[in-house]
Amino acid sequence: MSKKQAGLYRNPPEIRKRQGKYLFIGSQKVLNFSSNDYLGLGSSKKLRKKVADNFLKYGTTSSSSRLVSGNYSIITAAEKEYARYFGYDQALFFPSGYQANLGMISTFFEPGDTIIFDKHIHASSVKGITLSGADFYGYNHNAMSHLSKRLENYDQSRTAVITESLFSMDGDFLDVEGLKKLKQRYGFLTIVDEAHAFGALGDPSFKTGCGIARDAADIAVGTFGKALGLFGAFVLMPQGFKEYLINFSSPFIYTTTLPEAHAASAMDVLEMVRESKDKRRHLSEVSRHMKECLSHEGFKVTGEAHILAVEIGEENMAVTVFQKLLEKNIFVFPARYPTVPMGKAILRLGMTALHTQEDVKYFVGSLRKIYGKIE
Ligand SMILES: Cc1ncc(COP(=O)(O)O)c(C=O)c1O
Repeated sequence: MSKKQAGLYRNPPEIRKRQGKYLFIGSQKVLNFSSNDYLGLGSSKKLRKKVADNFLKYGTTSSSSRLVSGNYSIITAAEKEYARYFGYDQALFFPSGYQANLGMISTFFEPGDTIIFDKHIHASSVKGITLSGADFYGYNHNAMSHLSKRLENYDQSRTAVITESLFSMDGDFLDVEGLKKLKQRYGFLTIVDEAHAFGALGDPSFKTGCGIARDAADIAVGTFGKALGLFGAFVLMPQGFKEYLINFSSPFIYTTTLPEAHAASAMDVLEMVRESKDKRRHLSEVSRHMKECLSHEGFKVTGEAHILAVEIGEENMAVTVFQKLLEKNIFVFPARYPTVPMGKAILRLGMTALHTQEDVKYFVGSLRKIYGKIE
């Protein structure tokens, strides 16, 4: 069967522009439920103005890799702020989250090491693991008992566990306490990708947005392209690790560094994240409301925060539902294999602080009507 027949062919619609929670596709204005701009900062006038001013002030390019003539003091100053804010010793910026995971993991590990990873981690981490040359073993998604079994077999001094904190497709949380207990027992190194949590999730009072896995993580990865509304990524780590990456991480060394204007904007973003308590609270409330309404209508929905996965199953069905929703001016991503396992296609909803209860009502009502006609 061809990729097309199997419902696996990708042909994303061309988007003319984005405005807050709306996308413009051809002559259609559609409500976007596929954004990772969780706090809405990326579409805010305030951040756009600050970023524009920074590019005006600092210029448009760093014009070189960090190790040639790109090691600007504003970048190291921003990295220090990020390390401090998120509670780690050091931070290093990368041009993207994909490069950060690939570059960090493939550099820190080598043949003779063992990496044990949650089977649902992001493709960039998987690529880093395979490139490292280390032995690697997956454990069932979020199953600490399975991880424990895996750990019994290996020399812990050279073992690392890699996971995410808020999973990008399932929308569920890492069992931080469970992982912490295993870490105390076995003493492995822990790497946690907090791409979908940093900025949006943190302490229960919504004050910081510092993520949820600090208690169990030695190294964390954050991306600017999600709740932080920018682009690029950062690795947070203990003292001494940064120097090693700067010297040996090929995807860091042989690429043009993000410009000074990015670092200045990253610091502006941090200030806005600090001030986003109300946005985080609203995001939490509107996401919970969406889940409750979907469940009430009989849909199978997973997700414990702003990422919700509505179970569809068959790939072609997911595409049909996506198209029918688009006819109703709703845009939502039908995640299919290989992003999720075969036969387990989902509608992957990214809720944002820009969504309202009315938006939730419209989405759930539309999905109900579509299913009523298909069933
Ligand atoms: C969990 C996770 N890590 C890393 C990345 C990669 O980040 P970036 O888009 O900055 O390359 C993504 C998705 O984009 C992601 O979902």
